Amino acid sequence: MQWIIKYLTSSIGKKQIMGCTGAFLALFILGHMCGNFQLLNFDQASAQASYNAYTEFLTGFNPLHFPVKMIYLIELVLVGAFALHIFLAVTLKIENKKARGGIEYEVNARKGKKTFATFTMIWSGLFILGFLIQHLMTLKFGEHYLYVNSQGEMVRDMWLTTIDMFANPLWAGFYVISMFVIGMHLFHAISSAFQTMGIAHQKWTPIIDIAGIVYSVIVAAGFGITAIAAFYLANQPETQALRAKSHELQQQYQQQKAKADKAAFVIPSVGEVQVSFNIEK
Ligand code: HEM
Repeated sequence: MQWIIKYLTSSIGKKQIMGCTGAFLALFILGHMCGNFQLLNFDQASAQASYNAYTEFLTGFNPLHFPVKMIYLIELVLVGAFALHIFLAVTLKIENKKARGGIEYEVNARKGKKTFATFTMIWSGLFILGFLIQHLMTLKFGEHYLYVNSQGEMVRDMWLTTIDMFANPLWAGFYVISMFVIGMHLFHAISSAFQTMGIAHQKWTPIIDIAGIVYSVIVAAGFGITAIAAFYLANQPETQALRAKSHELQQQYQQQKAKADKAAFVIPSVGEVQVSFNIEK
């Protein structure tokens, strides 16, 4: 038991746990990026349907019928990994500074010099934390619009919340800058994590470095392109009309939701449907 405590409180133990939590977060990001590609559809009515179906699937996914929804367990792991990652990063930074008598210097063991990415790791990490707070406040905990899907179920219109945000050039610009910072953070984190795990090999190290660059560029470019394209699409006349119509429908949906658990709606593409309100209150 004592060796666990010794390991967890040692500098190498902390760095390795940071690497593991970071790897988990990096994989989540890749999956998240692929899911968001559904916004990139010139037929925005289809994008609205598929994006809402996707977010509904994610939030409702519970194949083993756990008493607690899977999404809550995943969120718990995500928050835990993120909190641990930040806590360890800040602790190591403080310890590092103390050990050097307040003088900050850290040498990249492999190259013998400090890179720009190394220097900015803690700041890019804290920037990402700020980005995430904005991201979750605006999207996950943002406007809860309603949408009637093709099965006549009333679900959350995540597309409308998301596309409304990207319609604003300031948010779209902020996302592009954020993706650059995330890419830079990932780029250094990947090669540094392998180094911490003790994988430093003449043949493999350059390959790992290249893989790290490719991964970071894919993630930053993937999200960045999504933000730019979402901005472009959100401001197209057809999308603006669809957004206006969706906003108009909100009041009607809210009134029906307040009145009954079931109601009849006429959806242009489907005809008259019985709508069931399965949205958590
Ligand atoms: C174009 C860029 C992005 C878009 C369009 C986007 C979209 C979204 C949306 C719509 C949600 C809410 C999902 C729901 O509640 O159903 C969400 C949640 C989330 N996003 Fe993003 N996202 C983007 C970039 C990122 C990046 C770069 C990160 C990480 C650094 C990130 C991390 C998260 C996290 C942690 C959640 C919460 C997941 C959960 O609670 O299930 N997102 N995102």
